[in-house]
Amino acid sequence: MNEENRGKYHIVTYGCQMNLHESEKMAGILSRKGYVETQNKEEADVILFNTCCIRENAENHAFGNIGELKKLKRSRPGLIIAVGGCMTQEKGKAELIRKRFPFVDIVFGNLNLEALGDLIDERIRSKKKIVSLRDEAPGAIEYDPPLRNSYPNAWVNIMYGCNNFCSYCIVPYVRGRERSRKPEHILEECRALVQEGYREITLLGQNVNSYGSDGTTEMRFPELLERVANIEGDFRVRFMTSHPKDFTKELVDVIARNRKICRLVHLPVQSGSDRILQAMNRRYTAGEYLAKVAMLKGVVPDAELTSDIIVGFPGEAEEDFEATLALVEKVGFASAFTFIYSPRTGTKAAEMPDRVEEEVQKRRIMRLIEAVNALTREKSAAYVGKEAEILCEDYDPKRGLYFGRDEYGRMGYFRSEENEVGKFVTLQIESANGVSLFGHAVRSR
Ligand code: SAH
Ligand code: SF4
Ligand code: F3S
Repeated sequence: MNEENRGKYHIVTYGCQMNLHESEKMAGILSRKGYVETQNKEEADVILFNTCCIRENAENHAFGNIGELKKLKRSRPGLIIAVGGCMTQEKGKAELIRKRFPFVDIVFGNLNLEALGDLIDERIRSKKKIVSLRDEAPGAIEYDPPLRNSYPNAWVNIMYGCNNFCSYCIVPYVRGRERSRKPEHILEECRALVQEGYREITLLGQNVNSYGSDGTTEMRFPELLERVANIEGDFRVRFMTSHPKDFTKELVDVIARNRKICRLVHLPVQSGSDRILQAMNRRYTAGEYLAKVAMLKGVVPDAELTSDIIVGFPGEAEEDFEATLALVEKVGFASAFTFIYSPRTGTKAAEMPDRVEEEVQKRRIMRLIEAVNALTREKSAAYVGKEAEILCEDYDPKRGLYFGRDEYGRMGYFRSEENEVGKFVTLQIESANGVSLFGHAVRSR
């Protein structure tokens, strides 16, 4: 039941899909309190920042945006500003936020996001500023329903946290140890989503391949994925992220026999140099990674891969970087997210010697981006003259075109007189421009 109208909320989200989905959970909490969404900060009664701390620039971005609210808060003292997410879970960051932005009303973390509603009530009642954090991760708690805004796709958490402690990464420190949701809860949520008309489900976890290894369930990821794919209905399934060390033949077999599962695997490699992979604590070699790729392509020949790659990790020499470039060419990624290494306080890598100079990092990332873009362009060009089935996401009024992604994540644009959002539309591709495809609709369902 919604309470009486309380005014409007505005959420700013940084970071990954996990965070985007958690913003949907926060939106659910706020709407049940009686708030409605606004795109306009100026007219909001609650402004919420869902922060990310994966790299320094993610933090700086949030700091900048929070700082900009000082004036607005002065002119409207009743406005509630809340800061949550991953950054506030970092050691000492909540205090820093309080000092630097004394006008912030509520600081909370991703580990107690379900408390948001109570924290807002408390703030309204007591007029006291609030810092509310939980250090220990709760189990895989079942959250109240999110207010989704990603139709026709729906994100579904299958697990929380991470146990891997890659030496550069702060996620295990701010999200705690792995906790898996019970399969029956996940399946129930997916079934309901398909019934509501969602046409794509993305299963989310920092490392979906270790699903269940916390002892919550006997079920492992391949079986869970297959059960989701077996839900009756016309929809497709994605999942992310897969850690290469846990990527198995069993999973590949499940992909092969279920056409609802997209033939795109996001398999972050991070580096192509064994020395650097070891320093990153990734627990595989470049050769082992390539063997997994070969295994996937052997069983699912039309599979494509995307990746995350870091350049300028401490001690990365020119030859290490060359090994990364060579691996990128060898795999032929459909696309990849590329990052300059960013030291995160509290992680092992932040203490490592031989930091790579900024100039060198920049030069390397430029070369890497060029290599990745060339692959992406090449793969897009290969679509011309062929058909591609996209799931129509939205209409772009500026271009007058509908758009959506195919199973490989390629964005396809087309014209239509009818509303096509939420439909699978087969396009005859006429041209390609970098990452985008343009065509006309041949059929839809
Ligand atoms: N659990 C997922 C995603 C983690 S964060 C996984 O393991 O793939 C997404 C990406 O951010 C990582 O894959 C990594 O490439 C990048 N990343 C993480 N920490 C980083 C850091 N300190 N500096 C630069 N990039 C980083
Ligand atoms: Fe970070 Fe590694 Fe865990 Fe991914 S697997 S979240 S990169 S520690
Ligand atoms: Fe995601 Fe950033 Fe947290 S990448 S897990 S929101 S630190």
